[in-house]
Amino acid sequence: MADRLPASWSAAQRRLHWLVAIGVFFAFALSWVMTRLGDNQALLKFALYQLHKNAGLLVLAAVVARIILLVRRGRPPLPGDLSVVNQRMALLGHAVLYGLLVAVPVLGYLTNSTSPSRIPVLFLLAIPLPNLTPASETWYALLVQFHRLAAVALVVIALTHALIAIVHHRRGSPILRGMWRG
Ligand code: HEM
Ligand code: HEM
Repeated sequence: MADRLPASWSAAQRRLHWLVAIGVFFAFALSWVMTRLGDNQALLKFALYQLHKNAGLLVLAAVVARIILLVRRGRPPLPGDLSVVNQRMALLGHAVLYGLLVAVPVLGYLTNSTSPSRIPVLFLLAIPLPNLTPASETWYALLVQFHRLAAVALVVIALTHALIAIVHHRRGSPILRGMWRG
C-alpha cells in the first residue's frame, strides 16, 4: 500500500477507468441485442454472444489491473470541501462498484460454464476457454438471473455515479477534470 496519497490519478489509472466504463456499457448493450435475436440469425447471434463474453473478460482484466494499481499507488484525496458523510458515501459507492465489476464477469463466466448448450467462451474469438463446472439446467437458470440482476445494478449505480460527477463538475469541482486529464 502507498505510504502517501498521490496528488493525481496516474495515466494508467485514468485510461483503465475509461476503458472499464466503455467495456461495461458495450457489454450491456450487446447483451440486450444478442438475447433478442431469433434462431434465423444464428451466426450473428453466436458472434454477438462471443463479443459480449470477450468484452466482459476485458472488463475483468482491466478491473484487476485497476485494483492492483489502487493498492500499490493509492488514489488522490477527495476534495476537502466534501463533508465527511459525503466522503464516506463516495468511497462506499466506489467499493460497491469495484465489487460489482468483479462479480458481473465472474457470474457471466459461471453462467456460460453451467449452460446446457456447452458453447465455450472463445477468447479473442478464437481460443476456447475451459468450462469450470458441469452443465446444469438448475444452476444455469439461477446464475443467469444473478448475472443479469448484478449487471443491471452495476449500470444503474455507474450512471448515478456519472451523474454525481457531472453535477460536481458543473459546480466547479476539479474531480472530473482530474479523472480526464490527471
Ligand atoms: C461503467 C461506468 C463506470 C464505472 C464502473 C466507474 C467506476 C469508478 C470507480 C470504481 C471509481 C473510483 C476509483 C478508485 O477509487 O480507484 C471511479 C472514479 C471516478 N469516476 Fe467513474 N465509473 C464509470 C463511469 C464514469 C463516468 C461516465 C464518469 C463521468 C461522467 C465518471 C467519473 C468519475 C470520476 C470523476 C471519478 C473520480 C472520483 C474521485 O476523485 O473520487 N465515471 N469510477
Ligand atoms: C461487464 C461485463 C458484463 C455485463 C455488463 C453483462 C451483462 C449481461 C446482461 C444484462 C445479460 C442478460 C441479458 C438479457 O437477458 O436481457 C447477460 C447475459 C449473459 N452473459 Fe453477460 N455481462 C458481462 C460479462 C459476461 C461475461 C464475462 C460472460 C462469459 C464469459 C457473460 C456471459 C453471458 C451469458 C452466457 C449470458 C446469458 C444470455 C442468455 O440468457 O442466453 N457475460 N449479460
